[in-house]
Amino acid sequence: MIHISPENFLDLRYLASGVFYPIDSFMSYDEYVCVVKDMRLLNKAIFSLPISLEVEHLNYDIGSKQDLYYDDTLVGFISISDKFKIKKEHIFELYQSKDEKHPGIIKENLKSPYRVAGSIEIKEEFLKGSLYKNFLQDHFKKINKNVKTIAGFQTRNPIHKAHEHLQRVALELCDALFINPLVGWKKEGDFSENAVMKAYEFMLEEFYPKNRVVLRGLQTAMRYAGPKEAVFHAILRRNIGCSHFIVGRDHAGVGTYYGNYEAQDLAKAVEKDLGISILALKEPYYCKKCNELVSEKTCSHKENEKIYISGTKIRQALKNDELPSEFMMRKEISNVILSLGKDNIFIKEN
Ligand code: ADX
Repeated sequence: MIHISPENFLDLRYLASGVFYPIDSFMSYDEYVCVVKDMRLLNKAIFSLPISLEVEHLNYDIGSKQDLYYDDTLVGFISISDKFKIKKEHIFELYQSKDEKHPGIIKENLKSPYRVAGSIEIKEEFLKGSLYKNFLQDHFKKINKNVKTIAGFQTRNPIHKAHEHLQRVALELCDALFINPLVGWKKEGDFSENAVMKAYEFMLEEFYPKNRVVLRGLQTAMRYAGPKEAVFHAILRRNIGCSHFIVGRDHAGVGTYYGNYEAQDLAKAVEKDLGISILALKEPYYCKKCNELVSEKTCSHKENEKIYISGTKIRQALKNDELPSEFMMRKEISNVILSLGKDNIFIKEN
């Protein structure tokens, strides 16, 4: 019997529903190392983050079938084909950092280093309601048959003006937009699932064309692995049915661990293997001279004319129960978030 973590429970669902395609089982040691070092599975297909099952010890027989329990409920089974201990160097390689203060590394350090691998089964009732492979094709078949191209948007934040700009550019380029906020584990201080989803529900209700924009949460943990996570995010959206994927500034980054456009560069470098087109978009900012949101690709003005859209400033204002600057976030969106009450806007401890 194995008691699985909340993150592994979500992994189990996506392994079973095809969202992690071509992965459909927890990774073996060889596969784990190959993914961490080369961003490839053993069969050479691209995959940038390891999906492994954390266990407390390695006293399981290879060949045995183990019950998987989550929250004291039987949720599935694993047929054990490998067991191993991961090393610090793997974690450093994964995050391209040796800084023990990196939020992804902190999270890894809290886990047991032991892993088991093998094919899985999930009880039907725990698969229900999960996103699945080609979800979007089924969705648009019903509501808008003209949709051929769909841009996927990953986020962990409520919509601000830079997000909106990227989304509107994508809607000009593609037939539809899939807003897919990550609603699995996030670090303390990030926006709560409720703040993100309520802000987007408002945006869809009041601003976006209903037959071209879909909103649904992605139930997997945030890793804060920057460029490698951007590639992972693109793979998942390809599987769900997107033809395009937006990668903006410092995608899935945190602090200053990754360069602003490192995620774009990596995703672009492997785009051919990914099977999804990368929409690499520059940081939009408000230019006082242009009097609108522009980017370095569309505006020639000097630094002192620019107002950047800062997630930190937005969070700070909301923390103080104040409205962030309207250059950065729509007033209506800020009000939706503030109406949740101070204690419900940010993740406290986890
Ligand atoms: S995350 O998953 O990438 O951490 P976040 O909400 O911060 O989520 O960003 C969502 C998407 O918008 C990412 O592709 C990110 O690169 C892009 N993005 C966020 N803020 C900006 C910005 N100010 N300029 C350009 N792109 C941005």
